[in-house]
Amino acid sequence: MENIEKHKQNWEKLGELDPLWAVLSDNNKRFNNWNLEEFLATGLSEVENVFTVMQELKLGQERGRMLDFGCGVGRLARHWLKYFDKYVGSDISSKMLERALKINQDLSVEFYENQDDLKIFEDNKFEFIYSGIVLQHMPSREIIKKYILEFYRILKEDGVLVFQLPAKIPWRFRLQPIRKVYSALRFLGLSDDFLYNHLGLYPIKMNFISENDMKNFLEKVGFKVLNIKNDTYCGPNVESRTYYCQK
Ligand SMILES: C[S@@+](CC[C@H](N)C(=O)[O-])C[C@H]1O[C@@H](n2cnc3c(N)ncnc32)[C@H](O)[C@@H]1O
Repeated sequence: MENIEKHKQNWEKLGELDPLWAVLSDNNKRFNNWNLEEFLATGLSEVENVFTVMQELKLGQERGRMLDFGCGVGRLARHWLKYFDKYVGSDISSKMLERALKINQDLSVEFYENQDDLKIFEDNKFEFIYSGIVLQHMPSREIIKKYILEFYRILKEDGVLVFQLPAKIPWRFRLQPIRKVYSALRFLGLSDDFLYNHLGLYPIKMNFISENDMKNFLEKVGFKVLNIKNDTYCGPNVESRTYYCQK
């Protein structure tokens, strides 16, 4: 199993080699082919879709301070600022965060590098936590659950957590040969740059937790699970869910 240090190194490399594609992996945009404006515009419908469901559930009315966990290059920052007074992004990759600062220099936002916990944030700090296309990349289910415990700790009373996570990945997509060949060749001494730019290999992992298991876990932690929606974050082959929860 990949440990968190290796996992961090992978995201540092991705943040160096092709950060926008590592965030939104559209085949036509590979090798630094995303247009920045087009890339940032993709965040608008994502945020509006989530916020519409929140409004239906009568959530998110306090504005206040939000955390975008695994914010990457801060693609969503400007869109979330329509609904929250303070946007804070955190990510494990310093390279992603360097890019986030540059891309969002016109905004008043904060970015932090987190480790395998969220100790950088005190208890009861945020009104809202969002995380999209992040937990799915964790090296293990234990780590996913550890972050969820941390979300509970740093949310205020009645604070809202919305996150996306696949509920099921069909067997034929679980093998993830690209990542495995990448790791093997990396181990043999080939450079990340060569593996990505010449062989088209990359180390992105996909993980999932069944809806039932996740719902039980959230309730055990103390969250009220207000809604679970099917979503399309992972394309047609992977069943993905967005969880709407309240502390
Ligand atoms: C596919 S990108 C999504 C970025 C952003 N959420 C978005 O939708 O634009 C996944 C991000 O999660 C970050 N990440 C991976 N593991 C993480 C961890 N343990 N803690 C925080 N961020 C993590 C990666 O560095 C990367 O920036």
